[in-house]
Amino acid sequence: MYKIALIGAGQIGSRHLQALAKSEIPISVEVVSRTSQSLVEAKERFEHIKGTGLVKSVKYFQSIKSLSNSIDIAIIATNSDVRRKVIEEVMQYKKTRFLLLEKVVFQSVQDFHEIIDLLKISQVKAWVNCPRRMYDFYLEVQKNLGNGEPIVCDIRGGNWGMGCNSIHFIDLISYVSREIDFRITRSDLDLEILASKREGFLEFTGSLRGVTRNGSKFSLISDKKSNVPCVITIKGDTSRYIIFESKGKAIRAHKSNNWKDEEVQFSVPYQSQLTHLAVSKILVTGQSDLTPLQLSFEFHKPLLETFTQHLEHVVNIRYGSCPIT
Ligand SMILES: NC(=O)c1ccc[n+]([C@@H]2O[C@H](COP(=O)([O-])OP(=O)(O)OC[C@H]3O[C@@H](n4cnc5c(N)ncnc54)[C@H](OP(=O)(O)O)[C@@H]3O)[C@@H](O)[C@H]2O)c1
Repeated sequence: MYKIALIGAGQIGSRHLQALAKSEIPISVEVVSRTSQSLVEAKERFEHIKGTGLVKSVKYFQSIKSLSNSIDIAIIATNSDVRRKVIEEVMQYKKTRFLLLEKVVFQSVQDFHEIIDLLKISQVKAWVNCPRRMYDFYLEVQKNLGNGEPIVCDIRGGNWGMGCNSIHFIDLISYVSREIDFRITRSDLDLEILASKREGFLEFTGSLRGVTRNGSKFSLISDKKSNVPCVITIKGDTSRYIIFESKGKAIRAHKSNNWKDEEVQFSVPYQSQLTHLAVSKILVTGQSDLTPLQLSFEFHKPLLETFTQHLEHVVNIRYGSCPIT
């Protein structure tokens, strides 16, 4: 039986736990959070789900040291500020084979370097939860666009949490275009820096533009004054998609069909419908559709550098990291 540790039983952590109820392989789960309140709420959410019966036990703890000594996979669903410390603690006191990390993974490039080195030495494989790679719809987009042609991506909407969510979109652009080399060429972030909906973290609005090595172009635009849902436009030489994720709807057109617009519906799975699939694939095959940590670092790096630079410019204090999560 596989042993799964879930560290951080907050909003997303409790959704990971709900997904694990649907595991199709026998597992035991150990959940760690700082407060008993979070553990109680996560337990309630878990018990709400009609599971497969393959979760043999769930234990709830308030400290990492209470976990079993040997774990197969640890899901680190805390906020970014403590992620490094939590991973270090797991690595110091426990033995794990795999890690599944929430984004934003870390707040500084330095943390990435240190943890990537630590995991390499310990031979632990880690992936980052940018789950659009698991959506059937984006697999279709990738099949139609990811043949090496440069693409143009535009993601825009009102106040969609650039600090917290840009990594999802860079990851998505990489996934559909199969490109991995990103550069931000222009940053027009607003001077007013906002408080994140998650306490203690910051958010940005404004626009970022960038390019990839193959000549793809992207823009990320978050308008401070509006609450228009995000629209994702992806164009290649042979296909074009205008995606309204919040409506589960897209307009697609293919050159082969004379660029005739066609409306398609697609499903946006909840995290509670995904984690068990990612986890079982990792446990059984040692592989994942999610983004390997080292690759995700390449996507985090230009974002972290741009946000940190902007923050330091605005507040005139050297941070060396950026409090996004
Ligand atoms: N991949 C995605 O699509 C996706 C979606 C949503 C969120 N996220 C990311 O997931 C992260 C968490 O977001 P959230 O909304 O779930 O935040 P949240 O509700 O604040 O949850 C974070 C949890 O981490 C726990 N925690 C903090 N320090 C800990 C420690 N040292 N040991 C154990 N647990 C600790 C907190 O525990 P207590 O409550 O017990 O104090 C809290 O429950 C963020 O980085 C966010 O961006 C990703």
